Amino acid sequence: MCGIVGYVGKRNATPLLINGLKRLEYRGYDSAGVAVRQADALVVRKSVGRLAVLEQKLAEHPVTGTLGVGHTRWATHGEPNEVNSHPHTDCTGRIAVVHNGIIENYQELRAELTAQGHKFRSQTDTEVIPHLIEAELAAGAPTPEEAIRRALRRAKGAYALGILFHDQPHTLYAARHGSPLIVGVGRDEHFIASDVPAIVDQVQRVIYLDDGEVVILRADGVSLSRLDGTAVEAKIQPVTIAAEAVEKAGFETFMLKEIHEQPRILRQLLARHGWQSGTVALPDFALGAPYFRKLNRVMIVACGSAYHTGMYGKLLLENVTSLAVETDLASEFRYRDPKIDPGTLIIAVSQSGETADTLASIRMAKSWGCKILAICNVPGSTVARESDAVFFTEAGPEIGVAATKSFTAQLMAFALLAFFIGRARGELAETQAQELLTDLQTIPDAIHYVLDRKDEIRTVADKHHDGPSSLYLGRRFNYPTALEGALKNKEISYQHAEGYAAGEMKHGPIALINEYLPVICICTRTRDEVYAKMISNIKEVEARHGRIIALATDGDATIAQLAEDILWVPPTRDEFSPMVNVVTLQLLAYYAAQARGTDIDKPRNLAKSVTVE
Ligand code: F6R
Repeated sequence: MCGIVGYVGKRNATPLLINGLKRLEYRGYDSAGVAVRQADALVVRKSVGRLAVLEQKLAEHPVTGTLGVGHTRWATHGEPNEVNSHPHTDCTGRIAVVHNGIIENYQELRAELTAQGHKFRSQTDTEVIPHLIEAELAAGAPTPEEAIRRALRRAKGAYALGILFHDQPHTLYAARHGSPLIVGVGRDEHFIASDVPAIVDQVQRVIYLDDGEVVILRADGVSLSRLDGTAVEAKIQPVTIAAEAVEKAGFETFMLKEIHEQPRILRQLLARHGWQSGTVALPDFALGAPYFRKLNRVMIVACGSAYHTGMYGKLLLENVTSLAVETDLASEFRYRDPKIDPGTLIIAVSQSGETADTLASIRMAKSWGCKILAICNVPGSTVARESDAVFFTEAGPEIGVAATKSFTAQLMAFALLAFFIGRARGELAETQAQELLTDLQTIPDAIHYVLDRKDEIRTVADKHHDGPSSLYLGRRFNYPTALEGALKNKEISYQHAEGYAAGEMKHGPIALINEYLPVICICTRTRDEVYAKMISNIKEVEARHGRIIALATDGDATIAQLAEDILWVPPTRDEFSPMVNVVTLQLLAYYAAQARGTDIDKPRNLAKSVTVE
């Protein structure tokens, strides 16, 4: 979703804005722009498409100044064109605004401002903000800051804003409500940004803004206040990610790098949450065993890939506890009437910690008195801050738009959490927990094994990449894996792909099968009782001449007779096999996308952090 960078200091803002925007490219965008205060005016440059187009424009028509804002836009209101790109200005061009979020009452505000004589140029919701500020100044607001406060008290919806005034040469204004925004604290300079990676090479300290805060930034300091004008003390925190974490480290794409990081990340998680006092250790965890003993129900909410890990989490929690567990899409959950009481734990899963629907679900459940446990990758994110306890997946910044390392880290988090809760409730015997943990330790090596065979996966992807569609089948623990494999494929290769519970085939999708359709069947086994059922499902595909690509456990002779192509994985306990199987499917999608020539790290239409509903 939209990315924001702002700068005030002593250096030339323009290259710093572009540098920051490049580091936010992973969020997804379709146009970009900057406003820089040059001489006495705010100079705006915008362009459609990749940042390189904007850079070219700035090379042809340079703009220099020590105060500026930049923006990458992911279109919501109005098509991606130059007029709709940010920054937006007021009638006179003296106020420039960049925005991430949606102003929900913009039509009403726009009508009112138009009636007052304001001239609008774009179709965006954002444009009402500079005009509202302009109107508040004209109506007598004593300072720009007060005009911003008055304007924002009228705006409904979500926003992260960077604001410049032509007559405030040394001041950058910002505000946040519902969309992420941080302040970067440097020496004699300050930044704003949507995300830490944007400025990680420039500052070592940040302030995570809270909803309803307005901030004034100058080269020598920042001051925070709330919308009602009360001062807020700034909590400056060290940046915890290294600048190298947002580099490709020799890989051709971030996604490939992130796929290869998975064994290390899972090993780290296992080391951090090792065996301690008869259970897995959850250091610094704010919900203790007494809370879990009283619990009667768990509701997992998430979106996209995180929802798939939530489906897995449900199966595992059901396996090792007596809890009733349900998983729902946050975008659906927030509009349900799920009869939830304070005895229900909400587990919110989110890589970014900024997903609008997941956040809305958390807030709704909090109002019912529920405790919130987040599984989250980004420290300082809104989900992390608004939850009662956080299991950090510690996968480092994920730059590729398609979730990979955050996905397997979430699966691992669910496994460790399930053991912890099972032990806390006395429902998982110590010996059984230890045995499970011992098997879990084998996962990083098993993933290495898959990574070492990536050339075989590439060969299969090359063979099947050009069809119009593919089907992914799995059962039980690997039903979410099938959904995730299909999602990866459609996201980055743009090939239609459908994930299905293999047992549901007969109820409809079997009609799709013909001699052209690749059917990816996840059929790994150690002692899983659904293995035999999966074999029957594969036979049904074979009988209709589907092209079977099987994910199978090394040495499985039954599968060898059924499948056209086989992607082998090492023997892994069934409960944990998704962590290994999904890596095969990530690579399968990756090489298919490569063969189809797509922009793998920045697939079309997608945003990394979905901060609007
Ligand atoms: C898919 C993907 C998305 C996210 C979803 C939720 O590869 O990345 O489906 O999983 O948008 O995002 P988070 O986890 O940030 O809440």
